Amino acid sequence: MEDRRLGPVVGLGTSRTFRDDARLAGEVVGAALEAGCRVVDTSPMYGSEAALAAALEGRRDRADVATKIWTPSAAEGREQFGAQLGWFGRVEIEQVHNLVSWREHLPWLENERAAGRIGRIGVTHWNAAAFGELAEAMRTRRFETVQLPYNPHERECERELLPLASELGMPVIVMRPFGEGELLRRQPSRAELEPLRAFGVETWPQALLKWILSDERVDLVIPATKNPQRARENAAAGVPPWLGPDERALVERLAR
Ligand SMILES: NC(=O)c1ccc[n+]([C@@H]2O[C@H](COP(=O)([O-])OP(=O)(O)OC[C@H]3O[C@@H](n4cnc5c(N)ncnc54)[C@H](OP(=O)(O)O)[C@@H]3O)[C@@H](O)[C@H]2O)c1
Repeated sequence: MEDRRLGPVVGLGTSRTFRDDARLAGEVVGAALEAGCRVVDTSPMYGSEAALAAALEGRRDRADVATKIWTPSAAEGREQFGAQLGWFGRVEIEQVHNLVSWREHLPWLENERAAGRIGRIGVTHWNAAAFGELAEAMRTRRFETVQLPYNPHERECERELLPLASELGMPVIVMRPFGEGELLRRQPSRAELEPLRAFGVETWPQALLKWILSDERVDLVIPATKNPQRARENAAAGVPPWLGPDERALVERLAR
């Protein structure tokens, strides 16, 4: 059977990070790639695509680009894609952002995939209120990745979407691993994290990333940062050993 998995691995999110600052993008992306990151996620919504393209110049082959189409209009969607081809040459994972007009976008996206300009077609949503429609889109079997929120404070996806993704053999990309930073407000002490050190966890952000990737239904987690050192710290959490049920329960307790 064809191996459709993407990970488990840590990628890089770019929402509210370097925006159009190509110099900063070069530093953050460079640090993430050196530390083992292989996928960078962006969107027309974030204003980070041009700077990301500049950051990948000369090393485009070292990272897959996951970007999005974010518009109700198929004509404008094609324009967004045209700009992305100019920046990236090809888009490895092209996602319909927040399910916006997904039925309208699918036919032309499938044509682009057949022509080899798109690798996989994906779909995203951040809001649990939209998970019913996200499941409906997944069940068409016309999407090859799904991106959703998952962290110890946001576990709604465990009810329907993660089991469905497993059933369909669909790779799962996890957004908002830190709840936009909310989960990092209280940092557990070194002593509290001690039982996780044997699993390669040195810091609280790494504990949260490992908690996510240790769920076998997850492929890729994409923490966002504008800080090169944090990009390194996050990417380092993308390697085994993975947490077992006891260690995952500890992270859940520490996140309360
Ligand atoms: N609908 C969608 O498709 C959708 C929606 C939401 C998110 N996403 C994707 O998912 C990505 C991640 O989600 P998110 O950006 O909402 O939130 P997030 O990754 O959960 O949190 C980002 C926050 O965590 C901080 N941070 C990151 N690494 C850190 C570390 N090691 N130590 C301390 N602080 C750290 C960042 O601050 P600094 O920058 O200061 O480090 C930033 O404030 C987005 O960038 C985007 O690519 C997609």
